[in-house]
Amino acid sequence: MTKEEVRRYLEFYQDLGVKTLYKRQPLVTIHQPPSTSHLPPIVLSLGPDHDNLAKISEDIGDCKRCRLHEGRNKIVFGSGNEQAKLVFVGEGPGADEDEQGMPFVGRAGQLLTQMIEGTAKKEGLDLLRKDVYICNVVKCRPPENRTPLPDEMEICGQFLFRQLEVIRPKAICALGSTAAKALLGTKDGVMRLRGKWHKWRDIPVIVTYHPSYLLRPYNQNAKREAWEDLKKVLHFVYD
Ligand code: URA
Repeated sequence: MTKEEVRRYLEFYQDLGVKTLYKRQPLVTIHQPPSTSHLPPIVLSLGPDHDNLAKISEDIGDCKRCRLHEGRNKIVFGSGNEQAKLVFVGEGPGADEDEQGMPFVGRAGQLLTQMIEGTAKKEGLDLLRKDVYICNVVKCRPPENRTPLPDEMEICGQFLFRQLEVIRPKAICALGSTAAKALLGTKDGVMRLRGKWHKWRDIPVIVTYHPSYLLRPYNQNAKREAWEDLKKVLHFVYD
């Protein structure tokens, strides 16, 4: 890159409200549940000082930074407990979410709610959907529910990262390969990534199947695996 290209690149991120850029870390895979007591004290903040969710939402504003704004009705920022110990990250809003401005309110969302609340109940944990935080990699609905493109993920991902830095959950559950790609920088699919702990910066990440995939009738095995993943992350966070 020339000096001028670097300057324009940095200006672009500055316009997004990003003040500090960090080199992407290699994918970290750990096989044991992470013990937060030995995590290195890395302090990585991407947003402005004293960032908060209201400020991030304000910075998103009436966003036109990528082509996804052209077809959207509502920006879907995220919902739930702003001090949640567990954050679920999906791919992007669908039709119902775009209409209501809330994440995971359609069929996949109902399944996600059942998965969270049903698994917690079975495991004897006192947890409802409202106790966790739920958001997506991109905040506007992609046309025809297509997978977000790399530049859309890159632009909107900066806001997701700020949300995660502000909430600082004890763990993140990535729903599907788009969320895994955004958080871990990997092209690996869910089958390879699930069942192990990964990290986004210093926060433990579990990857599991996207609820839309689990809605397909022939995915019994994946349903069982998703249930195992959820049990694992719920016990890690709430035991
Ligand atoms: N699928 C997603 O990835 N996110 C939503 O909010 C709804 C469906």
